[in-house]
Amino acid sequence: MEKTITVLPGDGIGPEVMKGALRVLKAIESRFQHRFTVTEMPIGGKAIDETGNPLPPETLEQCKKSDAVLLGAVGGPKWDGMDQRPEHGLLQIRKELNVFANLRPVKAFSPLADISPLKPELIENVDLVFVRELTGGLYFAQPKGRSGSDEAVDTLYYHRQEIERVVKKAFELAASRTGKLTSVDKANVLESSKLWREVVNEIAMSFPDVKVDHMLVDNAAMQLVRNPAQFDVIVTENMFGDILSDEASMITGSLGMLASASLSEEGAGLFEPVHGSAPDIAGTNTANPLGMVLSAAMMLRHSFHMNEEADAIEMAVQEVLNAKFRTGDIQTKKSRVSTTDEMVEQLVYR
Ligand code: NAI
Ligand code: MG
Repeated sequence: MEKTITVLPGDGIGPEVMKGALRVLKAIESRFQHRFTVTEMPIGGKAIDETGNPLPPETLEQCKKSDAVLLGAVGGPKWDGMDQRPEHGLLQIRKELNVFANLRPVKAFSPLADISPLKPELIENVDLVFVRELTGGLYFAQPKGRSGSDEAVDTLYYHRQEIERVVKKAFELAASRTGKLTSVDKANVLESSKLWREVVNEIAMSFPDVKVDHMLVDNAAMQLVRNPAQFDVIVTENMFGDILSDEASMITGSLGMLASASLSEEGAGLFEPVHGSAPDIAGTNTANPLGMVLSAAMMLRHSFHMNEEADAIEMAVQEVLNAKFRTGDIQTKKSRVSTTDEMVEQLVYR
């Protein structure tokens, strides 16, 4: 298969982990006989330095015409206090690509039980995915703002269509996994949640093989710590998803392990690790490349429908961890410390 990928390395450790992901994709290309045409473009701080704009029009245009977009991370102290913020480039590109469904898998790679704050027996079988609504809800709807110094308002508004499109994605994902979907809301208090629940129940009729549960968000927050292995796919509103997915991310023990995919109706998806540009370790070849590499695997699975290829990457990650190769963030007394490049070397070799 031939595919075009726009690569946005960004700032800090972004380019370091991106280099690793591209090496892994090269290995996939030759093993499975695909051709990936990669075009690198600036975003964030680098783009501000080069053009004065965190999302130059040429970068956006290139993203829109490619099959998928890979992003490292943006930002850093160098641009603090400037008028232009690197992070604006990121928010803008999500909006421009209309990526309304944010998928965040939380998988406990077994050898990492020793770094999770939860008990090993609790995280043993954890393999869940959040589907967070990303472009609506409490973070975006109007009215929003201040009136005078004593009043402020945010609005939780959803149109039925906004709920339908993200819930449908979640059902499709659940159908492709174990057929279990948990919809999280606050339908005992919020009108928008009542509509959310109504839409979920309607769409459920088209997916008879998927078992749906509704769970109130406060209970979900508790269940994620009490028994995370009970979940498979969780679909929820923008802010609920933001908070719950950060909570669940601690199951794996490190930010450096986590991948994400942001999907639109049919245009290019955006694939990026959950972590930021980590200015404290940038340039030291110590960053964990696995979140970025696993994001590339999500791109293969969700944008290119290359499941076998994505499985191959995830298996290589599991094997490298089994063999006790670890970057500093996932290190324990029993493992030696590997550099970013060594981790990638080990992945490619498998
Ligand atoms: P961060 O995620 O960059 O770093 C938090 C901590 O985790 C740091 O101690 C860092 O060294 C460590 N860490 C992060 N990724 C790692 C990896 N792959 N391997 C090993 N250790 C890792 O978050 P922070 O420090 O709050 O933000 C730094 C900059 O990144 C800021 O400018 C922020 O705005 C930006 N940022 C960008 C994001 C993006 O591009 N998607 C997301 C979050 C923050
Ligand atoms: Mg967050």
